[in-house]
Amino acid sequence: MSTVVTVSGSPAEDSTTHAVLRHVRRRLEVAGHRVVAVRPRNLPAAALLAGDVDDPAVAAAVRTIRAADGVVVASPVFNASISGLLKVFLDALPQRAFAGTPVLPLMTGGSLAHVLAVDHALRPVLQALSAAPVLAGRFVLSEHARRYPDGGLLLDPVAAVGLADATDALLAQLEHRPVPHLFAASGRRFSPVAGAPDLTVHLVAPDDPRLHPLLAELMVEYSTRYATGGPHELLTEVPVTDFELPSGTFVILQDGGETVAGGALRRYDATTAEVKRVWTSMRHRRRGLAGRLMAELERVAGELGHERIHLTTGPRQPEARRLYLAAGYTPRFDTALAPELVGVHAFGKELVPGAGLVEWPPAAVPLPEPATR
Ligand SMILES: Cc1cc2nc3c(=O)[nH]c(=O)nc-3n(C[C@H](O)[C@H](O)[C@H](O)COP(=O)(O)O)c2cc1C
Repeated sequence: MSTVVTVSGSPAEDSTTHAVLRHVRRRLEVAGHRVVAVRPRNLPAAALLAGDVDDPAVAAAVRTIRAADGVVVASPVFNASISGLLKVFLDALPQRAFAGTPVLPLMTGGSLAHVLAVDHALRPVLQALSAAPVLAGRFVLSEHARRYPDGGLLLDPVAAVGLADATDALLAQLEHRPVPHLFAASGRRFSPVAGAPDLTVHLVAPDDPRLHPLLAELMVEYSTRYATGGPHELLTEVPVTDFELPSGTFVILQDGGETVAGGALRRYDATTAEVKRVWTSMRHRRRGLAGRLMAELERVAGELGHERIHLTTGPRQPEARRLYLAAGYTPRFDTALAPELVGVHAFGKELVPGAGLVEWPPAAVPLPEPATR
């Protein structure tokens, strides 16, 4: 396990840069690393401006950086450059502060006109501090990072893939291995063509290592979008044994040995299967894989004796909503309402004509009668 320090150069309390760093942090934590956040905005301003490295808070931040195995430095673009706050903080570091440490530069900005600020404004400063190496940086357009008041973050797929690539490059450095990681898999890019000659379907148990990319990415994605505590607190709402045959199973699609999509089935009631954990690798979207996966899940549900399917998704999963509508599922909510007002998005589908859909919302469980004396 390595320790990675994240440094956010935004002076704002509620910030896109902080949110993007929290997402990167989750990816690093799910991969097994410890992450410590340094926020220069919380350091004493007078000490920073005076370059007072003896100030206890500044000195502690500098020590944290020097002890790191890897660093992620992020800044908003301010007037075509890094924030003054970040520059003042970096100027407080000793000249070889990053010697022998891989550093990942990230920037957020409001305009693509400044996409190269990562390379012309941030990279040279990190190089001057002896970062080795400075990894390929990423610029995230602020409109590609939709923030919610509770701290949730919905990343545009372009930003999500860019940040995944960047984080994987840092993980590869930390773990002393070539770049492809559990998230990156083969690193191949496919054209958006539905045909996939090497595609294979497998029914797998919940502890099968081939599920690792699916579970890891779902944990990162859910915890980022819904701002839950730590990623490891997720995917526990139903017992994992629900996904073991004969009650249920995971179904995965592999392409040339790489898990590219997957989902799970569990018994909802005597005739209904519930679909959960639907996932397509972010590097394999727009190939029709999710539609193919849903067809396989329905086929397997039928083989397990189910007559209908029930599933739910959340308000911050627009791609899932589109998928289920396109796959012929009936929405059990008012599609004209804003997703956040709907909350839980339930869908249903008959596998056997006339089977009907499950009762939704479920009838309230009657409260027990108060005890009488
Ligand atoms: C003072 C100031 C200057 C900015 N200058 C630029 C700029 O030159 N180019 C750009 O793309 N965005 C610029 N922006 C937009 C921010 O970079 C963008 O909104 C960023 O995501 C803010 O990050 P934060 O919420 O973490 O502070 C500027 C914002 C502010 C407040």
